[in-house]
Amino acid sequence: MARLRLGVLISGRGSNLQSLIDHFCMADAPAEICVVISNNPGAAGLARAAASGLPTLTIDHRRFGSRAEFDAAVNAALLDAGVELVCLAGFMRLLTTEFVQAWRNRMINIHPSLLPSFKGLHTHARAIEAGVRFAGCTVHYVRPEMDEGPILVQAAVPVLADDDEDSLAARVLVAEHRCYPAAIRMIAQGRVRIEGERAVIAGSGEMPPATQFNPA
Ligand code: GAR
Repeated sequence: MARLRLGVLISGRGSNLQSLIDHFCMADAPAEICVVISNNPGAAGLARAAASGLPTLTIDHRRFGSRAEFDAAVNAALLDAGVELVCLAGFMRLLTTEFVQAWRNRMINIHPSLLPSFKGLHTHARAIEAGVRFAGCTVHYVRPEMDEGPILVQAAVPVLADDDEDSLAARVLVAEHRCYPAAIRMIAQGRVRIEGERAVIAGSGEMPPATQFNPA
């Protein structure tokens, strides 16, 4: 079966990119990374991609007069690489409605909270401040409104009494590295359909591990 062609957009560290590299580097994987694009020339993720022999591109947003021009350059690079699914992996630029509509239901994002709670930035600090007992991450299709769109996969992790932003972020990040490849695998296997604004996953009727309580 043909492999789903991924374009990964990053801005920084690239640990989620690394998890995709690790999951999809085998010849029999259902998806392959065709290009990695960063808007930030200093992104550490670029070195991770290059170390794995992946094509990389830097499209520095500061060199463009407008968001529309930057997005057009990114769009052209994705089309050039024959990308079928765009994966935002710590990509910290807002995209224009035109770009998002052009990739509707063909672009996904990972966000470090249990959406629809804590959209935007500083999710972990805000979760601690709010006193929630579980935090987590969400992989979702991208819509023009920030951090909106049909949800593919979520993972919950407990918030502990002595957590700070860094300790919670680290716990969530471990979950992110499992959720993102899982979501892409589902799409690549053709198991996802969008009904209204819900993503329905074929063959996902299994009950996840038992209900959790925090504090236990
Ligand atoms: C990840 O935690 C990701 O969920 C978050 O940025 C981090 C990137 O880390 N994304 C967002 O906040 C998007 N709104 P990484 O570069 O190591 O993958």
